[in-house]
Amino acid sequence: MNKIKLAKRLSQIKPSATLAMTARAKLMAAKGIPVTIIKKFLEEKNLSYQKNEVLISCGAKHSLYNIAQALFEKGDEVIIPAPYWVSYPDQVLINDGTPVIVQTREEEGFLLDPQALEKAITPKTKALILNSPSNPTGAAYSKKNLEAIADILLKYQILVIYDEIYEKIVYDQFKHVNIASLAPELKNLTLIVNGVSKAYSMTGWRIGYTLGPQEIIKAMEMIQSQSTSNPASISQKAAVTALEKGDVFTHQMVGEFDKRRRVIVDRLNKIPGVGCFMPPGAFYAFPNISSYFGKTGSTGKIQNSIDLSNYLLEEAHVAVVAGEPFGNDHFIRLSYATSMEKIQQGVDQIETALLKLR
Ligand SMILES: Cc1ncc(COP(=O)(O)O)c(C=O)c1O
Repeated sequence: MNKIKLAKRLSQIKPSATLAMTARAKLMAAKGIPVTIIKKFLEEKNLSYQKNEVLISCGAKHSLYNIAQALFEKGDEVIIPAPYWVSYPDQVLINDGTPVIVQTREEEGFLLDPQALEKAITPKTKALILNSPSNPTGAAYSKKNLEAIADILLKYQILVIYDEIYEKIVYDQFKHVNIASLAPELKNLTLIVNGVSKAYSMTGWRIGYTLGPQEIIKAMEMIQSQSTSNPASISQKAAVTALEKGDVFTHQMVGEFDKRRRVIVDRLNKIPGVGCFMPPGAFYAFPNISSYFGKTGSTGKIQNSIDLSNYLLEEAHVAVVAGEPFGNDHFIRLSYATSMEKIQQGVDQIETALLKLR
């Protein structure tokens, strides 16, 4: 395991020459956002970063992609706990790495078991991708959970890509912790990914960012200089305002989400044969619907979560996402980032459709 070994593809390229000149000046003009981000991390998490340890990209998905390009190459194994956000394994694969999927269990809050993590580590392990709170399960890691994982990462010197894009969307006084804050040595192994899409409902503005070791950030910057340059300056300015003044709105939004979360989970749990975990974070319900497998409805026999989501679309006119692409076929994912009225109506329709299955 090599702590910071960049992918070989980096040695074949150089930073964009034009960006290095004129366009770079424009980029500098929009440099307000790293300064804001640095302030946020110091104030909210007591984590200190320099400007050359921060990179702003076109959404957190782009930040994650830049990381994968900078780090992964053939032979590298990347541990991903399942259920996972759909893009993680594909971003590893597209950059020649090998995703190593470790299943988590609903009974354990969909959290990565430290022993299972240790078992998955081989001399080829390059990184762990940890997402808290999680899309699709809403699982979230407490300080204690993170400490057990941190011990293993330190023992084997494994990088962690810590995607905390849902950090502000937590319930019941859950305290979100950043893994990098647990130990100074861990900060050197951590790439923090965050953005404005979820906390400030600014998905379309495409602002995500990474904080991490300067060497990796520099490599990501070089990659970005040859692809998208910088995110739109107008979006950067909007993100500065969101980061500085948006938390009051986030707070109101999370209060509303909490009411919807309770209703959707409660209603799903009342449907015969459906079991739904109460998520401590994010805005998704992730019910287990596997007891309906083997039954037949208007679209034919239901054999898996994809069949069931197709059936619910056709029969109930409700769009849910199958669990299979998230790495667990026994579940479906529903978003409650919609009105209470639509949630009630949607669950009514799901219930009617499920009860029709024979
Ligand atoms: C866990 C997770 N990470 C990253 C992203 C990407 O966010 P962005 O819109 O900033 O690209 C998403 C979006 O759904 C997500 O759920």
